[in-house]
This record gives sequence, structure tokens and C-alpha cells, in this order.
Amino acid sequence: MWTAVIAITFAAVASVAQCQTVYLAGDSTMAKGGGGTGTDGWGQYLAQYLTLPVVNNAIAGRSARSFTDEGRFTTLINTVKSGDFVVIEFGHNDGTSGATDNGRQDAVGNDTTTTTTVTAANGTSIVIHTFNFYIQNAVNSLKAKGAIPIVSSQTPDNIWTNGVIGPPSRFVGYAQLAGSRTSVTYIDHFDYVAQAYDALGQTTTTTFYPLDHTHTSPTGANIVAQTFVRGLICSTSALNKKLSASGSTVPGEEYIGTITSANISKRDAVGKCI
Ligand SMILES: *[C@@H]1O[C@H](CO)[C@@H](O)[C@H](O)[C@H]1NC(C)=O
Ligand SMILES: *[C@@H]1O[C@H](CO)[C@@H](O)[C@H](O)[C@H]1NC(C)=O
Ligand SMILES: *[C@@H]1O[C@H](CO)[C@@H](O)[C@H](O)[C@H]1NC(C)=O
Repeated sequence: MWTAVIAITFAAVASVAQCQTVYLAGDSTMAKGGGGTGTDGWGQYLAQYLTLPVVNNAIAGRSARSFTDEGRFTTLINTVKSGDFVVIEFGHNDGTSGATDNGRQDAVGNDTTTTTTVTAANGTSIVIHTFNFYIQNAVNSLKAKGAIPIVSSQTPDNIWTNGVIGPPSRFVGYAQLAGSRTSVTYIDHFDYVAQAYDALGQTTTTTFYPLDHTHTSPTGANIVAQTFVRGLICSTSALNKKLSASGSTVPGEEYIGTITSANISKRDAVGKCI
């Protein structure tokens, strides 16, 4: 009888632990099917490195603003349970568009109060907000539900400057600010991917970009997922306790070397292990 009671108790504890889910919010570089034409997003390759199920809600063409305006963050906020992780990664589609609003550009600036009035194709005026407004609101609402958001910076494009991946867009710095202002884990995914690409070199890296300079092949997407896991290992996120065997051992180590406890104990200003 005691055995039965204990067994039921353990089963209840185990089922609570197994209930955690990792949700992904992002654009084509993370989404299933990537940018089409044989490309794929890195979110499709993450689950093998974790012991938790991954739900990839990334969708091509979206920005922090359009993911918000289409109600996708609201759906996510309504879906998450306490303890779920949400990885948020935007930037590729957030840049300023021309005279006619493209439905996804953000107001320029890294505060949460600046707004800009833009003109839609049908002539209507629309008030838009900053990247940090959209991301920080989503993070705070997810936290209020007990979820654990992780803000990740956008991936680099396959654009090189003097033999290394070119400098980050302003949305990388904005993502870091969003993470620090909301006191959630920030993963400088841009930099972890750039480190891997720099180690592999331009010729090899270019084979991961069969379509354009933004969207990866399945092989490239897996490397981009590995570099995210590398960032996770170096972070203090509770998600770094949920690595599968392959997540613990092969997060891109073949390209950029082993991460030791010494690397993890040393962190730079934005929390990367060095
Ligand atoms: C004009 O376009 C905007 C943005 O797509 C849309 O929200 C609005 O409903 C449109 N207005 C009309 C009158 O079609
Ligand atoms: C944020 O905006 C301030 C004011 O424009 C600027 O000084 C700072 O460099 C910006 N930080 C980032 C990371 O973009
Ligand atoms: C880890 O630290 C060692 C010693 O400082 C260094 O040589 C190595 O490059 C670091 N590894 C990574 C992945 O940063």
C-alpha cells in the first residue's frame, strides 16, 4: 500500500516536470520551411538538443511588430503554462521600410515610448512602436503567466567583411536591452553563429545559403540551432538544465572548440562565456 502511494506521488511529480514546453517565436530564419526553396529555420533542429518538447511558432516574414499586431504574441501568452520557456528572436524584418508602410517595420529607437506615424498602402495613418516596446511587452506578459522568456538576438546574414561575418544590425543591441530591462536571459545568438561561421570560413558557410544571404539549408539551420544551444550552455537559464545527451556534447564544439567550466564561469558583459 505504501508502495502504491509513493508510486502515485512520484508519477504526479514526474508528470508536472514533463509538462514544460519550449515555444519559439520568430521569423523565417527560425520557422519550419525557412524562406522556401529547400531552406529551413533553426527552430526545427532544436528539439534533438533538449529533453523538452519544442513548439515552433515562428513564421516567415514576421517582425516584433507584425507578430504582435497579428495577435500571435497574445495567442502565445494565452497558451503558456507556468514553467514553459519561450524563445523570442526577431530582427530580420524589423527594419525601416520606404514611404509606404510594409506592415512590419518598427519605430526607430530602443526606448518603449517613441512612436512613429506611417502611411499604409491604402492611405491610412498607422501609429507604430519600437522593437523594444513590442518585445518587452510580450516578455512582461509571458512572465506574468509564469512562463520563462528568453530573448535571443537575430541570426547574421551571410555577408562578410574582411574575412569575418559583418557587424550586427541595431536589433541585436535592442534584443540585449530587452533582455536586461526585463531581467530575462539574453542569448547573443548573432555572435554565437558568427563565431561558428568565422571558424568555418566564408566558402563553407556559403554552402549553407542556397537561396539568398538570409535563409539556411537544413545543414546550416542545424548549425544555427547548435550555436543557440552553445549560448544556452553558457547562460544561466534554467533551460540549460534540460539538455539532451547530444545537446550537452555537440553544440558546435567541432567548429569552435570545447566549452569548459572555466569558460562558463567567466562571462563577458552580455553574459557570453569566454
Ligand atoms: C488600410 O490598411 C490598414 C493596414 O493594412 C488596415 O489596418 C486598414 O483596415 C485598412 N483600411 C481600409 C479602410 O481598408
Ligand atoms: C539605445 O539608445 C540610446 C539613445 O539613442 C543610445 O545612446 C544607445 O546606444 C542605444 N543602445 C543600443 C544598444 O542600441
Ligand atoms: C575556453 O577557455 C580557453 C582558455 O581560456 C580558451 O582557450 C578557449 O578558446 C575557450 N573556449 C571557448 C569556446 O570560448
